[in-house]
Amino acid sequence: MGRKPIYLVANWKTNPKTLKEAVGLYRSVTRIKFKSRQAVVVCPPAVFISSLKSTTKIKLGAQDVQLAALGAYTGSINIFQLASAGASFAIIGHSERRRAGDTDDVVNQKVLLALKTGFSVILCVGEQERDEAGEYLKTIKHQLDGALRGVKRSQFSKILIAYEPVWAIGDRALKSDTPENFQAVALFIKKILSLSFGPKIALATPVLYGGSVSAKNAASFVEEGQADGLLIGRASLKPDDFQFIASAV
Ligand code: PGA
Repeated sequence: MGRKPIYLVANWKTNPKTLKEAVGLYRSVTRIKFKSRQAVVVCPPAVFISSLKSTTKIKLGAQDVQLAALGAYTGSINIFQLASAGASFAIIGHSERRRAGDTDDVVNQKVLLALKTGFSVILCVGEQERDEAGEYLKTIKHQLDGALRGVKRSQFSKILIAYEPVWAIGDRALKSDTPENFQAVALFIKKILSLSFGPKIALATPVLYGGSVSAKNAASFVEEGQADGLLIGRASLKPDDFQFIASAV
């Protein structure tokens, strides 16, 4: 059996401003020398996806999916349209979507829809705040149980979990998490998966770290923290940083 891939997922959020910049940024990403074990997913704003072309190394992802069917849903994007634009991955349950109103139930419906449509799902979970008593683990359990309700064992080959503590995300974050804590939470996530879906699925499902990943700390999450990959926001917008991360992990 080959070694498990290391996922490098770039979440561009609402950047950049123009299509021209998006094409330029993507071109820089295609020039990065990724290692054979690395699996790369770039998630640009939905309007730019169709102007970028996935390669054998780099797949395109959506940052969210909407539940709108085909028809009279003004302003929505249907999931088939995302697929047709070239997306094969979808980030679901990102804290910035949860803050905008996605409940565990909505996240669950989006996960089921994306899987049914053939997408690979990058499911984000993570607590708002860390407390000494370990209450935050309950939040993570709740999010996982809620999001994965009704998912079949056979669908797990298309599921990745991204642990993103909300307090570590974005430029207002005070700091990233530590590799030690990530490893402990990743084990907890695997325990929850094991209870519901069995140990085989728990072991096989990749658990990524996200939240202020930088050129400086990326390697430590993969090496010391044993992360199966990284979900990278700000640093993925700087080709030099992204290149550095790719060489370091
Ligand atoms: P950040 O974002 O790397 O800029 O903290 C990560 C994310 O929200 O996915």
